[in-house]
Amino acid sequence: MPVLARVAERFARERPLEGRRVSVCLHVTAETANLVRALAAGGAEVALASANPLSTQDDVAAALVDADGVAVHAVHGETLDRYAEHLAALVAFEPQLAIDDGADLVCALNEAVGAEGELLGATEETTTGLVRLRRLEAEGELKVPVVAANESRTERAFNDRYGTGQSALDGIVRATNVLLSGAVVVVIGYGWTGKGIALRAKGQGANVIVCEVDPMRALEARMEGFEVMPALEAAARGDIFITVTGGRAVLGAGHFDAMRDGAIIANAGHFDVEVDLEALEAAAGSRREVRPLVEEFTVDGRRINLLAHGRVVNLAAADGHPAAVMDLSFAVQALAIEQLARGEGPGPGVHPVPEELDREVARLKLDSLGVEIDSLSEEQADYLRAWLPAPHDG
Ligand code: ADE
Repeated sequence: MPVLARVAERFARERPLEGRRVSVCLHVTAETANLVRALAAGGAEVALASANPLSTQDDVAAALVDADGVAVHAVHGETLDRYAEHLAALVAFEPQLAIDDGADLVCALNEAVGAEGELLGATEETTTGLVRLRRLEAEGELKVPVVAANESRTERAFNDRYGTGQSALDGIVRATNVLLSGAVVVVIGYGWTGKGIALRAKGQGANVIVCEVDPMRALEARMEGFEVMPALEAAARGDIFITVTGGRAVLGAGHFDAMRDGAIIANAGHFDVEVDLEALEAAAGSRREVRPLVEEFTVDGRRINLLAHGRVVNLAAADGHPAAVMDLSFAVQALAIEQLARGEGPGPGVHPVPEELDREVARLKLDSLGVEIDSLSEEQADYLRAWLPAPHDG
C-alpha cells in the first residue's frame, strides 16, 4: 500500500494526530491494519472493532494487539450481542475522531455525544452508511461532521467498481469452485459495485443479466451489452445471483419459487438483508451445509445454495478488496481524518471529500506506479480559466 505508506511516513514526521483518540469500525483485515498503523504513526491512540461479524481476520486482530498495542474488539464469527458489545467499547473509548463502515458506530456516537461535542468528526466508507447518515441529517438529528469518504472521486472510481467487482467473484469462486464461463450470472443492482461485478463476470465468459429499478442505470446496463429484465423473470434463468442494491428483500419467495436446481445466491451489499432469509427458510423443506459457507436449501425438490449466510460475500468468503485498491481508500480516510483533527472542519452534516485531497491521492498512486502525466501549459491553463473563444472561433 505505497500511497498509505507515504502518508504514514509524513504522519510520523509531523504527528498531526498527537493525543487524539480515534475509534475505527472497519473490517479487520490486513489493509485495515495498515490504516491503523498510519493513524498511530500520526500520534493517535486507536481502538478498533469489526464492521461485520464474519469479516475479521483473527491473525490480523491478534497482531495488532501483540505488535502494536492497539485495543482490538473483534473476533471472527462473533454473535450479534458480542458485535454490539464491541461497538459499545468504541463509544466508551470517547473518541475525538471516528472511521466507520456502515454507520453503526457514527449512529451510536451521535446518540452519545453531549452538547459540548468532543467529537471533531468522522468518515464513512460505504454507500449504505451514507444513506443512513443523510437520513439522520434530513431529520435534523446528525450532530457531527461526517466526511463522505465513499464518495471521493478516487473511491468511487476504483473501490466499488474494481475492488468489489473482483473480490465478490473471488468470494463466490472460493466458496463453491463454480465455473463462471458459460454460467448465467444475474446481477441485481447496477451501481458502481454492480457495474464492476457485471463487467468482470462478462470477462470470465458468463452471460450476464442485470436487474435494476433506476431507469438511467438500467439503460446504461443495456448499452453496455447486458440483458436487462425484472428479477422475477431473471430468477428462472440464472445460475448465480448476486445482490448488490443496498435494499431489503430483493430476492424473496417468488424468486426462490422460480429458481432452477443448483442456483447459487450471494450478497455483496453491506447488510445481510438483501436476500429474504426468513422466506427462504420458510420455503425450504430441508437445509444442510454442503461446504463451509455454502448452505443448501431444498425447495420443492430444487437445491438453492446460499453463500456466507447472505452476508457480504467478498469479505466473508474471501479477503475483501485487494490491498492495491484499499491503498487509495485508506489514504483518503487518513487524510480526511487529518483535516478533521485540526478542528477547523465544517459543522454537523455529511460533507464531500475536498477535491485537492482526492487529487493528492491519485497523484501519489500514479507516482508509486511510475506513471507520468502531462500538465497544462500556462497558455492552456489561462484559456480554460478565462473560457474565451479561441481566435479562429466565429
Ligand atoms: N472493505 C472491502 N474490502 C476491504 C478490505 N480488504 N479491508 C477493509 N475493508 C474492506
